[in-house]
This record gives sequence, structure tokens and C-alpha cells, in this order.
Amino acid sequence: MVAGAAIDLENISITLGGQPIVSQVNLSIKAGEFVCLLGPSGCGKSTVLNAIAGFLPVDGAIRVGGTAVRGPGVDRGVVFQNSDVLFPWLTASENVEYGPTIKGVAKRERAELARRYLELVGLGNAIDKFPSELSGGMRQRLQMARVLVNEPSVVLMDEPFGALDAQTREVMQVELDRIWRATKPTIVFVTHDIGESILLADRVVTMTTGPSAKIKAVHDVDLSHPRTMSDPQALTLQSTLRNEIGEEVSKVLRQQGLKEPGL
Ligand SMILES: Nc1ncnc2c1ncn2[C@@H]1O[C@H](COP(=O)(O)OP(=O)(O)OP(=O)(O)O)[C@@H](O)[C@H]1O
Ligand SMILES: [Mg+2]
Repeated sequence: MVAGAAIDLENISITLGGQPIVSQVNLSIKAGEFVCLLGPSGCGKSTVLNAIAGFLPVDGAIRVGGTAVRGPGVDRGVVFQNSDVLFPWLTASENVEYGPTIKGVAKRERAELARRYLELVGLGNAIDKFPSELSGGMRQRLQMARVLVNEPSVVLMDEPFGALDAQTREVMQVELDRIWRATKPTIVFVTHDIGESILLADRVVTMTTGPSAKIKAVHDVDLSHPRTMSDPQALTLQSTLRNEIGEEVSKVLRQQGLKEPGL
């Protein structure tokens, strides 16, 4: 249904407000791959994601499907942490139909598309509901349907489940895993949650503390889907990632003149 596109970050550096935020980042993401970005708060994860989305100018090159990114495009869908981006005056179906409407898809066809994508995200029974009538988890599903209906080759997700309670978050992780395997776009997913990254990603990329943040390490997650954190390999990777992120968080605390917990 959706074919993923490769993403190449070629020696990218990003400066915001005169500050070097990330520098010399090189990463090649395969078509259809699911990559998680992990790192301490403020290191530049959202900045990298926004650069791939085409919202920010960069030094170096970002290529999606071999074509240089020069601005936002429908080939790249973005799912944000909160669902304020939904149109509150439109029903779930009308929200999903928005992209197809802009593309000039006929009314009957776009209603059918909306129904199909709402069913894909488990909102088949909420087609005529307004966003205010949906729970937080349902609104995030609606955001996903609104992005996926455009059949983007790349889906960029910035802590999409960050505002959800732990139980809803778990459900959403399972759902995203299922949707990704059914549709296979390339996904770049920013999270603070180490477990979430292990459950979802083909590769987990950790970043160093800024300024001039870099890639610290890249880990393959060679586990079959659906995954569980009780798997011994998952637990080993969890401990590696905890140590890696812990080192970077310690640097942030030192930069801020704060003591580490337990010291
Ligand atoms: N428009 C801007 N002008 C100047 N500095 C900015 C701007 N936007 C972000 N920054 C700075 O860039 C750095 C990286 O921000 P970014 O939002 O990418 O971090 P993050 O890793 O996503 O953090 P978090 O995990 O808290 O979401 C931060 O130090 C932030 O203060
Ligand atoms: Mg962020």
C-alpha cells in the first residue's frame, strides 16, 4: 500500500539562533526501516526530525528516496506529540479526508479512503465523532490516520505517545507495530522511552548531549515482532541503552551544575 523511501543524512549540521545544535550527523536509513532516536532532553532529536520534515535549513544534505529535501512535502508525514493539529470543527472522517481533499480526490472516494484508514488505526466506530469526543489515545490514532491516508513514504513521529498514560501507550505501541508492518513506510520515531524504542525499532540511534550533538551509537534490534520486554536480548539492550543515555544525562546535569541522583 505504502512503499518506504530511504533517508540519507549526509554530514548535517544545524544552527538555531546562532547556536550549533547538531553537528556532522551521518545516518543512512533503509526504505521501510523503523529507526528510533533516543537522547537526553534538549540534545536535538526534534531538530533532526524537523530537518528531515523540511521545516529547517541544514548544512550538509538530507535526501529522501535519493532526492534532496528542500522543504516540507507530502512524501513525509509528521505525527506530533499532541493532537492540537487536528481540526476540532471537523469529524474524524473529515479530518482524515483533509489531505485527499487538497489533492482533489472526489468526495465518495475520499470518504472511502477515510473509512479504510480509520479502520486501520482501530477507529472504525468513531468515523463521525469530533476530536473533542475522543480520548487522548484515540486522537493520536486519528492523527496517524490523517497522516497515513496521504500514503507518505516517510512517517516522522515526535514522541507521539508521550502525553498518553502508560496503559494507552502500550496499546498504541502494539498498534503502531501492526500498522507499520502492514503498510511499511520508513519511520523515524523520537522517544525518551528506552523500552518503547526496543519494542518498535529495527535500529535505535542514541545522541550525545548538545550543543553540537552527534550520534553516539547505533544499535540493531534483531528481535522478531511482536516483541516483549521479557526477552533476555531486549533486557540486555535495555541495560546498554540505560547506561549510554545515563552518561549523556550526567553530562547535562553537570553542565547545569546539578548533582546526579544518589551522589
Ligand atoms: N528556534 C530555536 N532557536 C534557538 N534554539 C533552539 C530553537 N529550537 C530549539 N532550540 C534549542 O535546540 C536544542 C535542541 O532542541 P530540540 O527541541 O531539538 O531537543 P530535543 O532533543 O527534541 O529535546 P526534548 O527531548 O526535550 O524534546 C535545545 O537546546 C533548544 O533550546
Ligand atoms: Mg523534542
